[in-house]
Amino acid sequence: MSQRSGLPIGVFDSGVGGLTVLRELRRQLPAESTVYLGDEARMPYGPRPAAEVLEFTRQAMRWFASRGCKLVVIACNTATSAALEAVRDESAVPIIGVVRPGAAAALAASARRAIGVLATVGTVRSGAYVRAVRDLDPFADVVQRACPKLVPLVEAGRAGTPEALAAVREYVGPLLSEGGVVTPVVDTLLLGCTHYPLLREEFAAVAGPAVRVVDSATTTALAVREVLASHRLLAGEGRPTHEVCATGPVARFRDVARTIFGEDLPEVSGVALAGP
Ligand code: DGL
Repeated sequence: MSQRSGLPIGVFDSGVGGLTVLRELRRQLPAESTVYLGDEARMPYGPRPAAEVLEFTRQAMRWFASRGCKLVVIACNTATSAALEAVRDESAVPIIGVVRPGAAAALAASARRAIGVLATVGTVRSGAYVRAVRDLDPFADVVQRACPKLVPLVEAGRAGTPEALAAVREYVGPLLSEGGVVTPVVDTLLLGCTHYPLLREEFAAVAGPAVRVVDSATTTALAVREVLASHRLLAGEGRPTHEVCATGPVARFRDVARTIFGEDLPEVSGVALAGP
């Protein structure tokens, strides 16, 4: 085992939503130390132009490199879609995104290879999920839908309300019964945004039992484990450390995290990201 194996895994998101991915990583890899960075000051990324998201992600990757991480997970779907390929070429630290693991999860779940992707405006515009699914299975049918109301709803703590259910129905309904077809058009819904797993009950209720609902957190953590194992970089014995950092007012980050997850984060450090 090399010294590098003891370094933390970096987890990047536009805000608090990536804590869903961090949670799964910690569940699957309890020996690993982690450093989480949420760019809360500039969240949401979803409606921003791709070039802006790329620049923000670049800044974040430089920050992780300066922190000495052995691997960085871009937990944000919008940042993965806009920036993964470019920052991978530029960064000294290896980087994993959530889009390919999400696409793999959807294909594994889908019997008919008919997948509906729900994501932010930026992710949908990039077409990253459609490409990733078709790279893995060129026969697959993929439709996608931007759901701009859902992130603000989750952040406001309105998951589980009739309003959230109505919004999910508005977005998902057309993917299930386009043109009045009775059988669902898609047999799998891929939740391509950090916040949507927090509306899983709404998605499941609207989709019904014939449609599977999947997200990328489990398969991303699996991909992290596989890549670290293959490079003999899994952490050994010892006490893992976990750090949570955010740009902007730390109090706001903690508040949103509490609203969404219903629990207090131990400590959040404020950081500033440097421009070019
Ligand atoms: N983290 C973003 C994503 O997964 C959602 C929140 C945002 O728009 O910044 O696409």
